[in-house]
Amino acid sequence: MSQDEKTNQQWGGRFSEATDAFVQRFTASIQFDQRLYRHDIQGSIAHATMLETAGVLTTEERDQIIEGLNEVQTEIEAGTIEWSIPLEDVHMNVESALTAKIGITGKKLHTGRSRNDQVATDIRLWLRDEIDAISAELTRLQTGMVQLAETEADTIMPGFTHLQTAQPVTFGHHLLAWNEMLERDYGRLLDCRKRVNQSPLGAAALAGTTYPIDRELTAKLLGFEQPTRNSLDSVSDRDFAIEFCSFASLLLTHLSRMSEELVLWTSAQFNFIDLPDRFCTGSSIMPQKKNPDVPELVRGKTGRVNGHLISLLTLMKSQPLAYNKDNQEDKEPLFDAVDTVKDCLRAFADMVPAIEAKRDAMLEAARRGFSTATDLADYLVRRGVAFRDAHEIVGKSVAFGIEQGRDLSEMTLEELQQFSTDIDSDVFDVLTLEGSVAARDHVGGTAPNQVRQAATQALATLTGRS
Ligand code: ARG
Repeated sequence: MSQDEKTNQQWGGRFSEATDAFVQRFTASIQFDQRLYRHDIQGSIAHATMLETAGVLTTEERDQIIEGLNEVQTEIEAGTIEWSIPLEDVHMNVESALTAKIGITGKKLHTGRSRNDQVATDIRLWLRDEIDAISAELTRLQTGMVQLAETEADTIMPGFTHLQTAQPVTFGHHLLAWNEMLERDYGRLLDCRKRVNQSPLGAAALAGTTYPIDRELTAKLLGFEQPTRNSLDSVSDRDFAIEFCSFASLLLTHLSRMSEELVLWTSAQFNFIDLPDRFCTGSSIMPQKKNPDVPELVRGKTGRVNGHLISLLTLMKSQPLAYNKDNQEDKEPLFDAVDTVKDCLRAFADMVPAIEAKRDAMLEAARRGFSTATDLADYLVRRGVAFRDAHEIVGKSVAFGIEQGRDLSEMTLEELQQFSTDIDSDVFDVLTLEGSVAARDHVGGTAPNQVRQAATQALATLTGRS
């Protein structure tokens, strides 16, 4: 970065000495806001286009500005523009590069706007693009997840409460539960996009501008739904960024829960699934190890995204209207939240379809955990036993099974009848795992045919998104 300028050319008029070199670095944002350059140029082109229709710029000036801005963009992309710290941020760097190129006309671009509405416009444009990329990646993940659920609609595994074997469920049902979490996250993201997609351009520094600007036109040129309604709010509002981060926090919270289950399931103790080697790493000391690093890391990254949400909430807390320099601090947390979400979604979207269910091990685990105990109680209730009494009878049968090392389905009829004479030979229909899951045959239940229907519906929803 070049640091040779004496006083800042954009606002140095009232200053008699150059800014302290450390203060320049301390207050600059070019180190991180340079990634907004494309959206900054897009916003400037729309602004110049509007200024011409308003009669503030001549057609020739407008064309010179647009052509110059396009050249600046090409140079930035070619890496030939040197970012300058004394020029503080991406907005002044781009404007200065433009002026260096086209001369005095470049200095007219900033007519009727301020960096305050400019930066608010740039972040919204940038975030809108990122939201669209994230939506597509989330849809890819969900599609893979639901397709796997369909494949595993009949795969029986133990369902847990308190991490203790509770009742048998199907693996497909479990995957569809994950998809429900993601479906709500998607809804939150779309909702956030609506509030991101408003144009603050024209709010200028805080009060609007005296030029005959057309805010509807710039909003339209930039693909925004409409101009924001209040100039003070437009330059100070960052709650769209906070909303994005709260979406991100919840998404990562959900991914961390899935990660935790994947980590447990790949352990020798559970042994429910296998993750392909390409998603795992080894240990430099223990040759037998295959560590589920990808889900572990996603689980860990949740903390960092939660931190960004708290940063932004705290940044906004108690800020008086309108723009304050505090808001420059919105960028790094937001940028990192976006990057982290994209990486985690990509990792998950690649990994989930590659999960290999160890069906026999899952089935065996369901069999070992007395997971059909509730089914036996329900059977007794159907035969006229009060539920509390049935609970007691089954409790005693389970205690006997633990002592004998056998599941309920592995006992003889005589053994079961010690606990209740209401038990008959048809009891074995409900004590099987297949019978147990098939009996939960209603909307939202784990019966394989319900899982298949739910997967079909979910896939139709996902296909309908684009
Ligand atoms: N770099 C600044 C930011 O990110 C741009 C707006 C600066 N406005 C000002 N009045 N200093 O917020």
